[in-house]
Amino acid sequence: MSKAQAVFVCQSCGMTHTKWAGQCSGCLTWNTLVQETFSTPPGGLKPETSKISRLTKLNFETLDAEDDAPARMVTGIEEFDRVCGGGVVPGSAILLAGDPGVGKSTLLLQVTARAAMNGLRVAYISGEEAVEQIRGRASRMGVTKAPVDLAAETSLRTILDALKRDTYDLVVVDSIQTLWSDAIDAAQGSVSQVRACAGELVRLAKKSRTAMILVGHVTKEGQIAGPRVVEHMVDAVLSFEGERGYPFRILRGSKNRFGATDEIGVFEMGDGGLREVPNPSALFLGDNDERSSGSAVFAGIEGSRPVLVEIQALVAPSALGTPRRAVVGWDSGRLAMILAVLESRCGLGFGGKDVYLNVAGGLKINEPAADLAAAMALVSALLDQPLPKASVIFGEISLSGEVRGVSRMETRMKEALKLGFSNAIAPSTALENAPFEVKAYSHLVNAMGAFDMNG
Ligand code: TYD
Ligand code: MG
Repeated sequence: MSKAQAVFVCQSCGMTHTKWAGQCSGCLTWNTLVQETFSTPPGGLKPETSKISRLTKLNFETLDAEDDAPARMVTGIEEFDRVCGGGVVPGSAILLAGDPGVGKSTLLLQVTARAAMNGLRVAYISGEEAVEQIRGRASRMGVTKAPVDLAAETSLRTILDALKRDTYDLVVVDSIQTLWSDAIDAAQGSVSQVRACAGELVRLAKKSRTAMILVGHVTKEGQIAGPRVVEHMVDAVLSFEGERGYPFRILRGSKNRFGATDEIGVFEMGDGGLREVPNPSALFLGDNDERSSGSAVFAGIEGSRPVLVEIQALVAPSALGTPRRAVVGWDSGRLAMILAVLESRCGLGFGGKDVYLNVAGGLKINEPAADLAAAMALVSALLDQPLPKASVIFGEISLSGEVRGVSRMETRMKEALKLGFSNAIAPSTALENAPFEVKAYSHLVNAMGAFDMNG
């Protein structure tokens, strides 16, 4: 007899409760507890003998430790390989998370196709599309010749059986929310199902040295279990981002046991699928050389690469009692901070005005180094004066209005020089090794000198 135990699981954070409650005590969201049943297999759980081995493999002949850096499987899609840390590690589990429709299935079909062409044994299991649909998509992307094994399946047991029969180097499961395990008495897509299915697949990955890529949809409603419950089980979490209406898609590592997490991969979505953008530095600049008021160019760093981005600000008289503050691609808390510093340290008035700040091209910036560029764009919009021609801007702003140095300033300026910029508005510490003219400021008040304040 199997023993069933009823528990209440929060569909938002995955916390289990023994009693029902209106609010989850873990994440404080309301109405997210759903009853689910866990059952133990008949006869209880079988103990497995575990194999214990040493951290260093000593070679006793020479008493040298063998170099045991994890081997990498290179898929051939360079932007993807780089975000993974230089290829996919055998036996690792990766979660690819993103909004529905952002292009996760497209990306992974391209990755599997290229990997298969490069000689890896690859399977693509879809719980969302029929095999014919996947073939249709593949033919539009021109990858029909790749020897990828396809399956349309949602039953975990069937998938595990199939994966135990054949050995693969790389398996994609699209998506983890569509799988169901018959060992668990809970709805498809619920936290218990997602957790159990992901757990089984990760275990199989470790045992069989197969790299497993799990797709997870992010939903805000919390009704379908977010991929958050899977995050701690996998070795790497990649998120695929993009604004609707823009062709650019960014692959970002947010957790990686085998590589750096600040790396990004840039793609462009077109009719034939995703195209890699190996040199994204000028991508988010726009075509217009003549910049109008409110536009500033930020010399940023994304992962290991410099990226130049246009930051646009608009300041307009407000008809509302509480003026609007709207941001796209930037943190609203950070905008509030910069406005406060501009008001209290530089004596500029944004009260009674609506303020909009937009990062061009659909990129999301989270570097504090963009503070100065955002502040200059805001002041330029407020005064209706364009910034000096061919300038790039970078620098962090503290609450006292001090302009602080940021990392890799020389790299930022060199990239700007390459793209035809001739000067920088930057912290004083940027003067060293500057490849071109730098208007250096140590305080935001002094940076106002870049504008003609009487104009
Ligand atoms: P998809 O990979 O199905 O998204 P996800 O798996 O993340 O839900 O991508 C769906 C979107 O991508 C869809 O809106 C259409 C667009 N798309 C293209 O623009 N070009 C293409 O070649 C393909 C395959 C999709
Ligand atoms: Mg999909």
